[in-house]
Amino acid sequence: MSLADKLKGLGGIYPFHMPGHKRNTDLCGTDLPYALDITEITGFDNLHEPTGVIADIEKRLAEFYGAKQSFLLVNGSTCGIEAAILSVCGFGGKIIAARNCHKSVYKAIELYNITPVWIMPEADPLTGICGAITEQSVSGALDNHPDAALVVITSPTYEGIISDVRKIAEVCRRRRVLLLCDCAHGAHLPLLGRFSCDADITVLSLHKTLTCLTQTACACIDTDRVNAASFRSVLGAFETSSPSYILMAGADKCMTLIKSKGEELAEKHLSRLSAFRANVSDMKHLRLFENRYFNSDVDNPQFDNWKVCIDCSETNLSGRELFAILRDKYSLECEMFSARYVLAMTSIADTDEALQRLSDALCEIDGTLCASAAKPFPALAALLTAAAPRTAMTAYEAVRKPSEQTPASDAENMISGGYIWAYPPGIPIIAPGEIITREAIDYLRFLAEQGVALHSGGELLTTIKE
Ligand SMILES: Cc1ncc(COP(=O)(O)O)c(C=O)c1O
Repeated sequence: MSLADKLKGLGGIYPFHMPGHKRNTDLCGTDLPYALDITEITGFDNLHEPTGVIADIEKRLAEFYGAKQSFLLVNGSTCGIEAAILSVCGFGGKIIAARNCHKSVYKAIELYNITPVWIMPEADPLTGICGAITEQSVSGALDNHPDAALVVITSPTYEGIISDVRKIAEVCRRRRVLLLCDCAHGAHLPLLGRFSCDADITVLSLHKTLTCLTQTACACIDTDRVNAASFRSVLGAFETSSPSYILMAGADKCMTLIKSKGEELAEKHLSRLSAFRANVSDMKHLRLFENRYFNSDVDNPQFDNWKVCIDCSETNLSGRELFAILRDKYSLECEMFSARYVLAMTSIADTDEALQRLSDALCEIDGTLCASAAKPFPALAALLTAAAPRTAMTAYEAVRKPSEQTPASDAENMISGGYIWAYPPGIPIIAPGEIITREAIDYLRFLAEQGVALHSGGELLTTIKE
């Protein structure tokens, strides 16, 4: 019996247990699923030591991802990433991480006083989108830092850039270092025949590109080099001891759907996307990012073509303006915008009609635009592709020092006491302990002018008191 059916069968049992709403829909209404919201009661297994219905979901996740073992997560990929870093690096260890990692990687580095060695991905000069991580860059970092315990990369990225994880994993295996792949945006890749569990630990957000409820994710281990029991035990520090059965039932349902109809749904979605791409192929000013970046090769193995990344770098519109027009005039809410692009995420749950509306809207908007010279932003390119940031101390040390707020214009060469990131995508531009450069200040100013929301910084930056 599926977990969702089991939950529906709860009706006759009175809940003298948490949660406090007691599934009382007379009191609370039926707009939220109170009737299905339980805690660990008899017959419903335990996420932290699964042996029954939750173990079965994990088994099916492992089958789908071709992993030795999978761990269902209810605190998003965030908790899987943080647990993986702690369990491999321990306190005070060393990590090699791609600079375009999610803030969860930076947070783990800060919390456990880990020393990061950054791999700088090349940035597209027109949009600032980070490119793939190469095995050469990983190999070079390992030459200089053979004492690193873990390498962390993001693949695919928010914008759909895929790195050759298999080759990077081979490099790591030869050097006896573990690889963590943040595949938060790639949970659907097995449906495209484009996933294999090459990294030692892979973390995937089931809620981002599959049909699971928000917060549901999964960690996969496909190696004997990670001790599954100790990984599960570290996960226990990052995950709530009261996991939501509604979330877990969503994962159960999703795996059942994928097994019975996944291939058919993925095929339909791919033809929907082909129709969409054909519809927008005559746009004069707006472009799909992949057409410029990969020279129209949409099936390029380095790109996840479920991502629709609309590049407006050669138009008179900013990403923010395009995002607002799509929302306000066409009622199409996209995932995010940055200075020079808008990102729409698609999935098997989309309809033909929705993609048709998006292509119609883009073509119509395109008809109103004028060409404008490409607007590269050299400060960003320099920031992301030049040498890694200089650091004065670890992030752990920096956040413990007295700090003050300094106007951005005066902050050059000071030590940052905090993070500054644009969210989404949630990649820090400056991290604690790093020396604030002129390029970083210019880049922050540029993003602010373009209406990109900056977190924990803007006109004032947190700097360490000398
Ligand atoms: C690259 C990347 N990794 C990890 C995460 C965290 O995923 P979750 O929201 O499932 O915790 C995100 C979230 O946006 C992300 O973009």
